[in-house]
Amino acid sequence: MKLPCMVLSLLFFSFTSTILAADIPLGSTISASNPNQSWSSPNGTFSLGFTTDGSTNTYFLAITYNGFPIWKAGGDPGGVTDSTATLRFLPSGNLQLLNGSTNALVWQSNTAGLGVSAASLNDSGNFDLKNDTVSVWSTFNNPTDTILPGQNFTTNNILRSGLYSFRLLRSGNLTLTWNDSIVYYNSGLNSSMNINLTSPSLGLQPIGIFSLFDPSLPGPVIIAYSSDYVEGTDILRFVKLDGDGNLRIYSSARGSRTEIVRWAAVSDQCEVFGYCGDLGICSYNDTNPVCGCPSENFELVDPKDSRKGCKRKVEIEDCPGSATMLQLDHAMFLTYPPEITSQVFFVGISACRLNCLVSGSCIASTSLADGTGLCYLKVPAFVSGYQSPSLPSTSYLKVCGPVIPNPSTSLVGIDKDNGWRLHAGIVAVVVVGSLLGLIVLEGGLWFWCCRNSPKFGGLSAQYALLDYGMVLLEIVSGKRNFEVSEETNRKKFSVWAYEEFEKGNVEAIVDKRLTSQEVDMDQVLRVIQVSFWCIHEQPSQRPMMGKVVQMLEGITEIDKPPGPKAFTEGSVGGTSVNASSVSALSTFAASALAPSSSSSFQAAGVSSIASGKNLERASSSLLQSESN
Ligand SMILES: *[C@@H]1O[C@H](CO)[C@@H](O)[C@H](O)[C@H]1NC(C)=O
Ligand SMILES: *[C@@H]1O[C@H](CO)[C@@H](O)[C@H](O)[C@H]1NC(C)=O
Ligand SMILES: *[C@@H]1O[C@H](CO)[C@@H](O)[C@H](O)[C@H]1NC(C)=O
Ligand SMILES: *[C@@H]1O[C@H](CO)[C@@H](O)[C@H](O)[C@H]1NC(C)=O
Ligand SMILES: *[C@@H]1O[C@H](CO)[C@@H](O)[C@H](O)[C@H]1NC(C)=O
Ligand SMILES: *[C@@H]1O[C@H](CO)[C@@H](O)[C@H](O)[C@H]1NC(C)=O
Ligand SMILES: *[C@@H]1O[C@H](CO)[C@@H](O)[C@H](O)[C@H]1NC(C)=O
Ligand SMILES: *[C@@H]1O[C@H](CO)[C@@H](O)[C@H](O)[C@H]1NC(C)=O
Ligand SMILES: *[C@@H]1O[C@H](CO)[C@@H](O)[C@H](O)[C@H]1NC(C)=O
Ligand SMILES: *[C@@H]1O[C@H](CO)[C@@H](O)[C@H](O)[C@H]1NC(C)=O
Ligand SMILES: *[C@@H]1O[C@H](CO)[C@@H](O)[C@H](O)[C@H]1NC(C)=O
Repeated sequence: MKLPCMVLSLLFFSFTSTILAADIPLGSTISASNPNQSWSSPNGTFSLGFTTDGSTNTYFLAITYNGFPIWKAGGDPGGVTDSTATLRFLPSGNLQLLNGSTNALVWQSNTAGLGVSAASLNDSGNFDLKNDTVSVWSTFNNPTDTILPGQNFTTNNILRSGLYSFRLLRSGNLTLTWNDSIVYYNSGLNSSMNINLTSPSLGLQPIGIFSLFDPSLPGPVIIAYSSDYVEGTDILRFVKLDGDGNLRIYSSARGSRTEIVRWAAVSDQCEVFGYCGDLGICSYNDTNPVCGCPSENFELVDPKDSRKGCKRKVEIEDCPGSATMLQLDHAMFLTYPPEITSQVFFVGISACRLNCLVSGSCIASTSLADGTGLCYLKVPAFVSGYQSPSLPSTSYLKVCGPVIPNPSTSLVGIDKDNGWRLHAGIVAVVVVGSLLGLIVLEGGLWFWCCRNSPKFGGLSAQYALLDYGMVLLEIVSGKRNFEVSEETNRKKFSVWAYEEFEKGNVEAIVDKRLTSQEVDMDQVLRVIQVSFWCIHEQPSQRPMMGKVVQMLEGITEIDKPPGPKAFTEGSVGGTSVNASSVSALSTFAASALAPSSSSSFQAAGVSSIASGKNLERASSSLLQSESN
C-alpha cells in the first residue's frame, strides 16, 4: 500500500530489509495536509496517518484498518486537529501531535529520554516505540476506544469515547461508565465461582471469542462470542467502545470497508445513561433508538443533533408557584449506582409525584410500578429518560405550567389523548406489525394445540383468526362491527364493507384519518382482503396461520375473498357447505364473536407481552387507540 515515510525511503532505502521496512526512524514526520503520507504495517493491513471523519477540516491522527480508526492519538474528541497538523517523531524519542499555525501541542507519547530509537507498526495493529531491546510505549498498552486481537487489556487500561468509558475491575467485572461517575453496565463473573482474581486481563481471539484471563482461574472465562466466530477468512474482529456508550464486537473483512456489529454489551441502547443527553427521552422507532424531548415545554439543545439533549423553554426558577408535574406514561428516568442509594424511596405513585412537586431539590421522579413499590426522586443533575410501552413505570418531570404534550409522532404513547392522532403511516405499520405478531404467536399456540389435540386446537385457532380478522377491519376502518349507521346504509359493518370492497370503493371503508395522510393503499387493500378471509363464516375455509402471514407480507397472492354473508345461504365462493356442520359451527362462531372483539384483542395483546419488544410496542399503542 502506501510507502513508509519519505525520510525512510530516501535515507534508508539501501539498508532496508523485510523486517526493518516497518521501522520508522527518529526525525520522521507526517502531516495532515498530505494525505499520501502514512506509515503502514509490513503487509499493509494497518496504517498510521491522518484521517478525516467527513466533517470539514477535521482531522485525527489514527491507526486505521479498512479506513476505520482503531486508535486515535488523544482520543475522541481530544485529538481533533485541522489540516495544518503534523506528527513529529522527535530525535528525543518523543512523539508529538501539533496543531495549527501556532504548533499547539495536542498530544504526546511522553517518551523523551527513554532511549527510544525507532518506531514500528506491526501487522497486528500495534504501534511501538522501542529502544534497542524492548518496547517502551505502545498503542496496545495505551488504547483509545478499541481492543484488537492480540492486545492485552488489563485493569490499568481504559477505553474512552466521548463521556463514556470502559474498564476491567480487579474483581473481574466489566463496567461501562458515563462521565466517570454513573455505572450503567456492570457485569461480573458467575458468582458461584467465588474466586479472588490476582491480575485479570481481557483478550479477543482472532476467531472472535472475547475472554477474561487470570492466573487464579482454571482457564479463560468467555465473556462473549462474536456472532460470526470461527467463520470466514481474512476477517478482523475488534472490540470497540462506540460514541453511543455501547461496547460492541465488530467484524470487518479485509478490503470490505464495512464493519458489522456481532455483539453489543448493552442490548437495549436506551438503557445507556445519557444516550439522549440531558432531559432527552430515548425511545424506539421501528428499528432504531431515537431521541426526543419529553414535551413541548422543552426544545432540543441542538436541533441538528437530537442526542445533545433538551432544555426547558421556561426554567423552573422563572415560574415560581406555577410549576407542575408533566406525566410521562411508560417512562423512566435511568437511575444507576451511585445514584441509587441516595435517590430511592418506598412510596406510592401519587406520593412519588407530589413529593417531587413540593420538594425544591427534586426535578423529576419515577414510580417503578414493577412490584417493588419504589420511587426514584431525581435531584437537579443530568437526567436521562427512556420511554417504551413495555416499561411499567410512570415518570414525572417538573415543568412550568401549562403542560404542552408532544404532538406524538416520535414519542408514541406519550399521553392517552393522542392515541388516534398517530401518523397514518405509523398506524398502518402498527396494524400490520401487530397482526403479524399476534398471528405468529397464535400460530405457535395453534401448532402446539394442534399436535396435542387435532380437533379442538385447529378449530379454536380458526376462531381466533375470526377475531383478528374483525379487529383488523375495525382498525383500518375506525368502526365497530356492530356499529350500524347511516354511513353503512344501516347494514352490519362487515357486510357493508364487503359491498364497498366489491365495488372497488376501498377508500370508503378506510378510516378518513388514514386516507387524509400518506398511506400505502396496496398494503391497506391487502389487510382488508386478509381480514375478509379471516372472517370467512366457514372456519375450514379460513386460511392457515402461515398463509395469513404470507398474504400480509405480500409473499402470497391473495385470492378474491368471499363475502361475510349469512350462514343460511349455504354456499360460499363456489364451495358448497354441509348445512348441519354449519349450524353446529355457527353457535361456536357466535360465541366467539359475542364479546366485543376489541376486548378479546386486548386480552391477546396483553398475553403477548413476553414475545418481543416490537410487538409490545405495537399492541400497547393499539390498546391506547382502542381506549378512546
Ligand atoms: C498523492 O498521490 C496521488 C497518486 O499517487 C498523486 O496524484 C497526488 O499528487 C499525491 N498528493 C500529494 C499531496 O502528494
Ligand atoms: C486545532 O486547530 C483548530 C483550528 O486551528 C481548532 O479548531 C482545534 O480546536 C485545534 N485542536 C486542538 C486539540 O487544539
Ligand atoms: C531499554 O529500556 C529498558 C527498560 O526501560 C532498559 O532496561 C534498557 O536498558 C533500555 N535499553 C537501552 C539500549 O536503552
Ligand atoms: C498480515 O499479517 C497478519 C498478521 O500476521 C495476518 O493475520 C494477515 O493475514 C496478513 N495479511 C496479509 C494480506 O498477508
Ligand atoms: C505486534 O505486537 C504485539 C505486541 O507486542 C504482539 O503481541 C504481536 O504478536 C505483534 N504482531 C506481529 C504480527 O508481529
Ligand atoms: C496481560 O498483561 C498482564 C500484565 O502485563 C500479564 O500479567 C498477563 O499475563 C497478560 N495476559 C495475557 C493473556 O497475556
Ligand atoms: C461530568 O462531570 C464533571 C465533574 O465530575 C462535571 O463538571 C460535568 O458537568 C459533568 N458533565 C455533564 C455533561 O454533566
Ligand atoms: C460485579 O457484577 C455483579 C453483577 O454481575 C454485581 O452484583 C457486583 O456487585 C459487581 N461487583 C463489583 C465490585 O462491582
Ligand atoms: C455459573 O457456574 C455454574 C457452575 O460453575 C454453572 O452451573 C452455572 O450455569 C453458571 N451460571 C451462569 C449464569 O453462567
Ligand atoms: C477473597 O478476598 C476476601 C478479602 O480480601 C476474603 O475475605 C475472601 O475469603 C477471599 N475469597 C476467596 C475465595 O479466596
Ligand atoms: C428510525 O430512526 C432511524 C435513525 O434516526 C432512521 O434512520 C429511520 O429511518 C427511522 N425509521 C423509521 C421507520 O422512522
